[in-house]
Amino acid sequence: MGSYRIQLVVGIVSSLLFVFPSTQGWGEDGHAIVCKIAQGRLNSRAAAAVKKLLPADAGNDLSSKCSWADHVRFIYTWSSPLHFADTPDALCTFNNQRDCVDQATGTRGRCVVAAIANYTTQLLDYGSVPKSKYNLTQALYFLSHFMGDIHQPLHCGFTTDRGGNDITVHWYTRKENLHHIWDDSIIETEVERFYDSNITDFVNAIQQNIKNEWADQIEDWENCSATDIPCPTTYASESVDDACKWAYKDAEEGSVLENDYFLSRYPIVNLRLAQAGVRLAATLNQILDQGLVMSM
Ligand SMILES: *[C@@H]1O[C@H](CO)[C@@H](O)[C@H](O)[C@H]1NC(C)=O
Ligand SMILES: *[C@@H]1O[C@H](CO)[C@@H](O)[C@H](O)[C@H]1NC(C)=O
Ligand SMILES: *[C@@H]1O[C@H](CO)[C@@H](O)[C@H](O)[C@H]1NC(C)=O
Ligand SMILES: *[C@@H]1O[C@H](CO)[C@@H](O)[C@H](O)[C@H]1NC(C)=O
Ligand SMILES: [Zn+2]
Repeated sequence: MGSYRIQLVVGIVSSLLFVFPSTQGWGEDGHAIVCKIAQGRLNSRAAAAVKKLLPADAGNDLSSKCSWADHVRFIYTWSSPLHFADTPDALCTFNNQRDCVDQATGTRGRCVVAAIANYTTQLLDYGSVPKSKYNLTQALYFLSHFMGDIHQPLHCGFTTDRGGNDITVHWYTRKENLHHIWDDSIIETEVERFYDSNITDFVNAIQQNIKNEWADQIEDWENCSATDIPCPTTYASESVDDACKWAYKDAEEGSVLENDYFLSRYPIVNLRLAQAGVRLAATLNQILDQGLVMSM
């Protein structure tokens, strides 16, 4: 009896942890999906480099490390502002000069856009002699994670509500903040309803869309500007645009978000996951292959 009760309590606590993971950026699933898509698109040299940079315990599976950056946020406190690039309320545009700021301290150049440039540049050292002064395994983890974050519309949301973290709504019957709905809940509901809770099937479906429905857009996603891969300011601009058009729209404090919201928003989530994966692959293919010169 006693031990049954303890097990029950442990069960409740762990299911609470499961339902409300304290993640920043796409939840574990969203990040893993982005990295699965990316790793499947690597050219042979980039694939070999990634394999070499991953530790043995990853089993050559990049997706197993794509939430590492969230796990170290509180140890590496300097990295915490690098997950976001929020903008002044309701402007719906991203301006790197104005918005790439650590909102807590006002320090410029500390945001997800700068972080993507930073870790891309570090990874250009791969294979160099003498050895890079950076930990390139960590650079790979950070780049893979931030490429996901920057595509989550509310990572480029408004400063006042901290990208929707301070907007409380209901997701069907559950109380949630709006940011969490875009990190996790939409994906969870989608996988549960349409893929019998099988993430692998969901990833396969996105990969099919990349091959078919979106095939003629892939080059545009990859070459978002004439010369640079990656181009994080473009990704941030797309995100804040989606934040205004889809995430914040009809989601005021206290609203109840149900099928109307879910059914119109999940295609946006799918598109952003696909773009993040394709662009992460394109970036790794360039930097770990012939190298590139990046300007910001
Ligand atoms: C760049 O990477 C280094 C090493 O991880 C880190 O100390 C620095 O804060 C990073 N800066 C940005 C803007 O990402
Ligand atoms: C690089 O970072 C990884 C991940 O944090 C760590 O396991 C590894 O020991 C680091 N390598 C060096 C040489 O510090
Ligand atoms: C998910 O579906 C795939 C086939 O698409 C199957 O191989 C796999 O076992 C399924 N996973 C789970 C956890 O059911
Ligand atoms: C995209 O960029 C690559 C490499 O820079 C180039 O080879 C390719 O032609 C570009 N595609 C388009 C559509 O601009
Ligand atoms: Zn994050």
